[in-house]
Amino acid sequence: MPSQKIIIDTDPGQDDAIAILLALASEEVDLLGIVTVAGNVPLELTSRNALMLCELAKKPETKVFAGCSRPLVRPLITAEHVHGKTGLDGADLPEPRISLQTQHGVDWTIETLLAAEDNSVTICCLAPLTNVGMAIVKAPEILPKIKNIVLMGGGFFEGGNITPTSEFNIYVDPHAANTVMKCGRPLVIMPLDVTHKALMQRKWLDALRALKTPVGKATYGMLSFYERFDVEKYGSSGGPLHDPTVIAYLLKPELFEGRQVNVEVEINSELTMGMTSVDWWKVTDRAPNATYMNQINADGFFALILDRLSHL
Ligand code: BDR
Ligand code: CA
Repeated sequence: MPSQKIIIDTDPGQDDAIAILLALASEEVDLLGIVTVAGNVPLELTSRNALMLCELAKKPETKVFAGCSRPLVRPLITAEHVHGKTGLDGADLPEPRISLQTQHGVDWTIETLLAAEDNSVTICCLAPLTNVGMAIVKAPEILPKIKNIVLMGGGFFEGGNITPTSEFNIYVDPHAANTVMKCGRPLVIMPLDVTHKALMQRKWLDALRALKTPVGKATYGMLSFYERFDVEKYGSSGGPLHDPTVIAYLLKPELFEGRQVNVEVEINSELTMGMTSVDWWKVTDRAPNATYMNQINADGFFALILDRLSHL
């Protein structure tokens, strides 16, 4: 199978980290570059974290670009309460030796897409959609180049995780999310409705540690730290691993089920800001713009991650 060209837009974050490592470990994807954005922690830290992950995976040739340092309209909200001060607390990684590329991440995304064939690049969004929204506004001629946009964000049946109605990635930059939802290219959405059905289990975390590799040690450490927040919050036996669903979908789409529906983002009401309005029951005549997933084969998902990470 020829590899799929992808760009990862991210704010690492422990769950972003697993998504990045999964992509770096997988031959089916050709990672053109990683673009960072402010989200879980400020941009300087998300960029540093992305560099450290490329080193951890022994892929120092991976290009990492820093994108936007704040959302398009609203002030930045971060999530140190979930991810710790560095965004990757628990991992204990050394300072990166590789450096960021000098070009701005949005400009690189535009340049890369313009140089690509039509319908050829998948954008994997693991974070607030600021960079992608900005690129679409700055250079709408990139749109035909995009094969699809696969994003982790939103929630409908599950409600929100940062406000009662809204999921973090959409809430942090609802205006950018609104631009992406309306961009007209195929969208695949991995919402909380999916990620809350795939909870990490102790046995799986122990299997990561048992790899006895730097990747196994670091991922065990960071995920043990990261899951404490959700376990306490939801009273569940393990925490969700949101962002790797995006990469897992590219590798094994059969792990997921969903529906072709209309999804729009609330950008006017302060009470429900960033809410994803999902027309699951087709009660409007708004045209479907996304494949909205709501089922996951959790065992298959965790087995895939463990298998691929064991090769790094
Ligand atoms: C999303 O928000 C971030 O905290 C995670 O990295 C994930 O992208 C989950 O709501
Ligand atoms: Ca993320």
